[in-house]
Formats: sequence, C-alpha cells, structure tokens
Amino acid sequence: APILLADYRPPAWTVEQVELTFDLAIDRAEVDARLALRRKVDEPIRLNGEGLELIELKVDGRVLSEGEYILGDGMLEFTATGDTCVVETRVALRPAENTAFEGLYLSGSRETGFLLTQCEAEGFRHITFFPDRPDVLSRYTVTLRADKARFPVLLAGGNPDGSGDLPEGRHWARFVDPHPKPSYLFALVAGRLERISRDHVTADGRRVALHIWAEPDAIDRCDYAMDALVRSMRWDEDAYGRNYDLDVFHVVATHDFNMGAMENKGLNIFNAKYLLADPDSSTDDEYRHVEAVVAHEYFHNWSGNRVTCRDWFQLSLKEGLTVFREQSFSADMNSAPLKRIEDVALLRRAQFPEDAGPLSHPVRPSQYSEINNFYTATVYEKGAELVRMLAGRLGPEGFRQGMDLYFARHDGQAVTIEDFLRALGEANGIDLMPYLAWYEQSGTPRISADGRYDAAQRRYRLTLRQRTPAVDGQAARRPLPVPVRLSLFDPSGQATPLRLEGEAAPDGVERTVVLHTAEQVFTFEDIAQAPVPSLLRGFSAPVILEYDYAPDELALLLRHDADGFNRWEAGQQLAGLAFDDARDGRQQGAALDAWTTVLAALFHDPAVDDALLAELLTPPGEIELVERQPERDPQRIRDARLRMLGALAARIGVPALRQRYDALSAMARGDLDAASQARRQLKRRVLDLIALASPDDGRALARTQYERAPAMTDRLAALSTLALADADAAAEAIAHFRRRYDGNALALDKWFAMQAQLPGDSAFDRIRSLEADPAFTLKNPNRVQALIGTFARANPTGFHRTDGAAYRWLADRLLAIDALNPQVAARVATAFNGWKRLEPVRREAAHAVIAALSSRRDLSRDLTDILGRVALG
Ligand code: ARG
Ligand code: ZN
Repeated sequence: APILLADYRPPAWTVEQVELTFDLAIDRAEVDARLALRRKVDEPIRLNGEGLELIELKVDGRVLSEGEYILGDGMLEFTATGDTCVVETRVALRPAENTAFEGLYLSGSRETGFLLTQCEAEGFRHITFFPDRPDVLSRYTVTLRADKARFPVLLAGGNPDGSGDLPEGRHWARFVDPHPKPSYLFALVAGRLERISRDHVTADGRRVALHIWAEPDAIDRCDYAMDALVRSMRWDEDAYGRNYDLDVFHVVATHDFNMGAMENKGLNIFNAKYLLADPDSSTDDEYRHVEAVVAHEYFHNWSGNRVTCRDWFQLSLKEGLTVFREQSFSADMNSAPLKRIEDVALLRRAQFPEDAGPLSHPVRPSQYSEINNFYTATVYEKGAELVRMLAGRLGPEGFRQGMDLYFARHDGQAVTIEDFLRALGEANGIDLMPYLAWYEQSGTPRISADGRYDAAQRRYRLTLRQRTPAVDGQAARRPLPVPVRLSLFDPSGQATPLRLEGEAAPDGVERTVVLHTAEQVFTFEDIAQAPVPSLLRGFSAPVILEYDYAPDELALLLRHDADGFNRWEAGQQLAGLAFDDARDGRQQGAALDAWTTVLAALFHDPAVDDALLAELLTPPGEIELVERQPERDPQRIRDARLRMLGALAARIGVPALRQRYDALSAMARGDLDAASQARRQLKRRVLDLIALASPDDGRALARTQYERAPAMTDRLAALSTLALADADAAAEAIAHFRRRYDGNALALDKWFAMQAQLPGDSAFDRIRSLEADPAFTLKNPNRVQALIGTFARANPTGFHRTDGAAYRWLADRLLAIDALNPQVAARVATAFNGWKRLEPVRREAAHAVIAALSSRRDLSRDLTDILGRVALG
C-alpha cells in the first residue's frame, strides 16, 4: 500500500544519542549500535531494519529473548516501560554482496576497492536497526575499526575524536558530530584513498580543514573540485550569510554510485563523474557540472542538513531550494543569461515530458510507494523554479530576509514546505500561502496571452489566461499565482515605458504582472504604436506560454530583445514554427525563411558573442519537438529538424561557415576561461552545419579536429560529427579513442554514450556489439546509463524502431539490472514514459512489452512502481 502524506504522524520514540561501532571488512562487517531513546507517544518501540542479521538485542542492559520482540517485514518491534530507554543491537552485514549500492557497500574490486555508505533516502536501515525517518534527529558518535593495511583511511561525518592502533594489525578512529542530524545524513568511508587538502577560514572565523579523497589513480584530478569547493563556501557566506560548522569537511569520489552525489554531514560522497576533472578527459560541460554539484552538496549543509525535511514528501524543501541556490551560484561564477538558458532548456527536456506523462506528480507528492523514484526533475528542477518565483516576488533583500528567518527559526528542525512559505512571507509581511498550490498541483500550466492594441485610445490590453491540463486522480485545479515579467517593443525594436491603467507615470520598461485568477486583463496606457510583447522574461514562471506570434514579431525580438534569455526564447519559438514548415514540406515557409534570415544576419553581427550565438544556432532538440506533434514519429521529427538546419547552413553559406570555423580553430587552446569555452561551443555548431551542407568538408574538418584537439570538448565533438557523417570514416577514430582511454572509466563512459546516440536503423546492432565490449558491465551505474540509458532516452530514432526489437531488448536488460540494482533499473525504465504518444505501430509494440514486464511478480518495488505507473499511460 502506498504511503500517504495525509497519514503523517510524529515519531512515537525519538533517538537523542547514537553510538555506533563498526568492525569493517569486505565480506562481513559487524555493527554495534547504542541508542538512547525518549518516548513521545505511548506505543511500542519500532525500528526499521532491512537485510540485517540480528546477533543480539538488549534493552536497558538486558538481553531480549526471541519471544520478547517481533522481527519481520523490515521492522523490529518490542515494548519498553519507562519514558527513556537504551537499546543496544549487534548486527552483521555483507558489504561485498551489496550490488544495490544502498547501505554499506564495496566500490571497486575486493583487492583494491573501498567501503562506503549511501543512506538517503532509506539506506540507514540497511546498516542498523533505527527509526529511519528524517524527523528523528540525533547526535552521533561513530567508531570505526578495521585492518590497518587494507583500510588505512577511516572516515565518518563529524569532528575527529581520536584514533589509534589495535592488536593484530588493526586500528580505530572515532568521530563525534555535535549537530543533531537525521539518519539519512550518516556516512562512513574506509579503504586505500589519497587526499588533497586545503584550509579555509569561514567568515565567522572557523578554521576548516578541507580534504578531497580519491583512489590513487584519480587524486591528481581533484584540484578543480577543491577550487570549486572554496568558491562555494565563500559564496554561501556572502550571499546567504551561511558558514560551515565543523572543523573538517571531507569529499570522496567513487565510481560506483547510483546518483550524482550525496550531502552526508561533513562527509560528502560523489559520483566520480561530478568530482574528477582534467583537460585531457573532461569536457567543458563536465567542468561546469563539477562546479555546480560541488556547490550543491556543500549548500545542503544549511538547506537540508541544519534545516531538514519532516518527511520525504517534503523532499523539494531541500532539493528545490538547493538547486536554486546552486543555479544562482553558477550564474554568479559564469554567464547569468547563459545559465538561465541552460536551466530552462533542461527543464523543458526533462521535466516537461515527465509532467506531461504517466509519471507526472506534484513538486510535493501526496503519496508514494518507493521514495527513491521521486528524486525527479519535478522535485529538483521544477522545485527550483518555484523557489525562484518566490525570490522574484520578494526581491533580493526581501528574499534574503526571508531566508535568514527560515534558517534562524528552523535550525535543528525537520520542517515542511508550509514552514518555508511562512518564514519567507512573515519576514516580508506578505502571505505566500497561495503559492502552496504550485507545490500541490502537477502538470505544466498553460498561459495563453492575447494582446489588443487600440490606436484611438493609445492603449494596449493584454489578456492572460491560465489552465492546467487535468490529471487523473487530482481534484479540480486551483488558479495559481503566475508572475509574468514583460516588456513591450515598438516596431523599431525600442522598449516602451510602461504605465498600467490607474498609474500616474510610467515605471520603467520592464514590469512584472501577476495573474492570480483564471483570466485577467492588464491595460497599458500611452502606447504609440502596436507593440510586440516580450513575455515571461527570464522565464518568470515554469509554464508553457501560448501567444500567437507572427514570424516577423519573433524575428524582431530575436534581433532586439535586451533580455538575453528572451532573445534566445524568441529564437526557440521561431525555430518551432520553422520546424513546422520543414516538417510539412513548406521549404519557402515564412517562419523557416525568417529564422534562417535572422540567424544568418546575427551570424555576422560582431555584437553577438560566441556563446550566445552558439545557443541561438541550436534549435529545440528532438525530444522537445515531440511536444509539437499530436503523435510521435521520431524519424519524421529528426528528418524535419535536419531539413531546417540544412536550410540554415545553406542560408549562411559554406564559405562563411568555413571562414568562421577556421578563425575559431586558429584560436583553439585547451584553456578553461569563458571565452575559450564559448569558442569551442560555437565551433561545434558551425562544424555540424558544415557537415550538413557539405559532407565532404565536414568529414575532413572533423578528422583533423579529432587529431589535433587540445582538449576533450573538441575531441569528442569531432568524433561525434565524424561518426554522424560517415560511420566507416569514423571507425578508426573510434577505435583510437577506445585505446587511448583504456582504463579511464569516465572517458570510456563518454565513448559509450557518444555511440549510443548515433541515430537510425543501425543503432540497435551497434548497441548490442558495444554490450560485448569487455569494458561494459551491468554492475556499474555510470556504464549502464552511458550505454543503455543514453540509447533509450537520447536516441529516439534508434530506440523507437517500428519492429519493437529495442523495446524487447530493454525489457530483458531491465530484468538483469533489477536483480543487481533496483534504483538503477527503475531510473532506466522511465525511458518508457512517453509510449502512449507514439504513433500506433510503435505504441502497440511498446505497450505489449510494458504490459508483459509490469505483470511480473519477481521485480523490485522500485521497478514495479515505475512500470505500474507507466503502464497506465
Ligand atoms: N540528496 C542527494 C542530492 O544532492 C541525492 C540523493 C539521492 N538518493 C537516492 N537514493 N535517490 O541531490
Ligand atoms: Zn540535493
């Protein structure tokens, strides 16, 4: 039965103090726990525990015999008489057999690998018996014991509190965390690791030792992460007044991790993909991801750890907020408009399809059967958009005051979204509770806008309407508060001063109006000519805007809009219309013509910087374009998109493209500064256009670029262009890359993923031969995502074969993955999300496979949950 938000009850017993002692080894570990409990409600003590071998249970010093407790169904239950009691358990674990990477497990080989833990959301119950829920906050003392030669490094969260040798070549180390925390933030690491270190003095004067740990072959790839960590700490001190609160901060890299990274108190653990970086094997995007994820996990120390979630329904309280903080940091460190473009593109690519399909759920779900399946784009990315809306509503100072109150009022507590809205609101004397509806309703709202210009009255009336498509099982939709930031442009491209009806004087050329009801009219006075509205500037709300722009209106915004985001957005909208032309065979269509004409002009405009130009030259991807189709035929979408890009290449002309490409190549170095990154981005777009317009040129340039590339970004881009242009010509380079990076797991992941994306009929055979590569394994989540995840999610023409062969293959692989790692299986299975909107032949094929798979009774709860929801369509 699902768990319901409405059923929430506070814990019957809390744990004030936890003492854990681990005897660690690869095959078998023993865990002694001593819990000091306090009664809140007159009920038995119930402790969660999964897959634990119980060796001994004592209550207040007395061993309980078998008849005195009940053990079953993931729960240990017994009674206690007083209002406080001390429970002691001893359990045994089998780390090397733990392929699910939840709880205590082994990363790497038995000989050289290391032990680590992952507890969020409910992994701690795989380590010891405990009330494993985020509203039980306890002080932890952790002692680790292990063989000194095999496990020279012993780490746990908290401040170090002694270490020393033991008989028989063993040693111990103890850690005390003074800050009460929920069990999901517990972590330990033990093994042969190396470190780089730096000191940081916080704004409030604490000297903190920072250590980043990695396996010996990776330790020289941690410097960038260390710089990013120091930048993050400074930024949180300045932007939010938040200081770190322990004497040490550890960060550890592992190649075996289900998610991106984890904010365990004082001991963050990272998927190596988001921590290691070096020019030879990392792309520019990866450098930015490392910076962002390091910041994200660090920022959790306040938004998540010091103030945590009451229950898992509130997950976005920490994740949406922390993604927003991370986005703001990245915008400050890099280009703010480009960051906004990147964030919105991700929202549209990942969250909009999720919210439009069977896995749609509110940012705060009201029920779940497996919480691991709710670490979604909706909880993270849409959740961040909601915080951004609130921040926009309050303004920078008001938002900071609100956050100060939130942190001060709730420090050391486990709270709810309502608490967050109340603190932000009360600090500003504003009622923000109407925004709760955004957290409770799923689906992407559609805002339709309609502008009427009255020349006689010199008035512009803008009508805004909202509607959110109904979703089964959800009550009637309430109207949401929707902030719409806007400007009005005159036909020459000038922004007009804005005076709303009833106001004495105009107030700037940009305003935010808030739509509170189903429909509202905003009247602007003194407008001299029919304007072109620039709406939802900066993407001021996570909605789909419907406004019937003519191509030349979008072209005007694309040329003149000063808001970098909306300029790009006008280009995306125009590209959407151009795509319709290309798909329907209108090679002379007005939109296609306007899109290619403006971009060709911007291509030569020195005022447009390389980075923005690269973004402008990138139309929406095949996955976003699905939204423009009533029924999805991936091949048609791809063909039409290529036709529109071909028309663009022809309009700019091969000589101009070549000239630009040569100029960018002449400046190519491996440097990481923004200008160098922008040049590489643009070069990649230009090379792709050349390859479309003149395949022979494209092939030759790509081969040379591959050979001479000073860094991974150029190398990988060239390889991918070459492979798209001519599989035979690419074979040699692909084999070369494989040899060059043998043993470099992260580089090989890119090699698998690049090939997994190559489109068309031959894709499926390619995948199957890649599966036979000795470096491929179903046991490593990154490898599975690189090959199987990429193929199923990012290769629409290859995966959605009309014969359904790839669907059957995926079902088969899901069974094998599920037996090893349910979380990974469930995540890969979300690739079936959009099956109902496929054209009939593919839809039938997909449905048959999903129905057969979801009727099986031997699947994990994770996979059963995803398939069950997907099957309903
Ligand atoms: N809290 C982690 C983050 O920073 C993610 C952990 C997800 N874990 C999981 N089992 N789903 O976003
Ligand atoms: Zn997070």
